[in-house]
Amino acid sequence: MNMKQKRQGFIGFGNLTKAVYRGLKEERELSFSYFARSKKEEPIPFYEKLDDLVAVSDVLWLGVKPQDLGGILEQLKYCPLHGKTIVSPVAGKSISYIERYLGKDQLIIRIMPNLAMAYKKSVTSFTSNRPDDEKAKEIYMLLGKLGKVVELEEEGFDLFTSVFGSGPAFILAFIQIFKDKMQEFNLPGPLLDELLLELTQGTTLYFAQNQKDYSIEELIRNITSKGGTTQAGLEYFRNQQIGKHFEGVLDAARRRSEEMRKNGD
Ligand SMILES: NC(=O)c1ccc[n+]([C@@H]2O[C@H](COP(=O)([O-])OP(=O)(O)OC[C@H]3O[C@@H](n4cnc5c(N)ncnc54)[C@H](OP(=O)(O)O)[C@@H]3O)[C@@H](O)[C@H]2O)c1
Repeated sequence: MNMKQKRQGFIGFGNLTKAVYRGLKEERELSFSYFARSKKEEPIPFYEKLDDLVAVSDVLWLGVKPQDLGGILEQLKYCPLHGKTIVSPVAGKSISYIERYLGKDQLIIRIMPNLAMAYKKSVTSFTSNRPDDEKAKEIYMLLGKLGKVVELEEEGFDLFTSVFGSGPAFILAFIQIFKDKMQEFNLPGPLLDELLLELTQGTTLYFAQNQKDYSIEELIRNITSKGGTTQAGLEYFRNQQIGKHFEGVLDAARRRSEEMRKNGD
């Protein structure tokens, strides 16, 4: 891939932008630097002033928490941004919110990724205020190196954030329930983690290998023998409406994303 926007500048260098960096650092033609409140261990240039980072960057990744975004944009609007691309993974903050500071002419890309970017396994939604711009298309391609990317209307971002942005935490919370239950065996914690990892990877592989030919319901059915243990567990699952309760987790996250958007807009 022959990237025109080579210089990646991270505004904030926390969990998310570090994951972007880790996922892309092998890309030979790209360079990386960051601006944050304090210098980190990573071996890439650190800038104490936002203007200095902007001057050496083609793409600016907004890697701060939603509540800090306004303060950063307030500084950014005085920086020379002509020809640069803004990429925002910030939950609940719309393109129009960013445009309010930087203007409508600024190329802004909004994404919702997750931390698996570091392993090139993110599921990332993508939208832009200029989808036909070559630079926007280039960022879309770049995100494709970090996992799967889908173009999505901005209205869909709240639900997408809940399922794919927060999703890894919810799946891990589920695995934690298995781990808590296994405490009965008195096995060391790290061994338990290894066993649960094998369970998760085995399940994912089973899903991956059969996903084209079978629905999830069919894959569950293949593990369920009549009158057996899985059936007993699944009956409890259905009778107690565990699925419905779990849906509540996703709805709560989605509502929070909506609230953040409304408070900021
Ligand atoms: N974490 C996820 O899984 C995830 C997934 C999807 C989207 N996102 C979005 O990504 C964004 C970042 O999340 P995160 O988890 O990476 O947050 P984080 O780990 O808390 O990192 C935030 C970074 O922002 C920097 N920062 C905050 N205020 C600053 C300021 N005034 N000037 C300069 N730097 C400042 C912090 O600098 P210091 O370290 O020096 O304090 C830190 O490096 C959020 O908006 C979130 O919605 C996160």
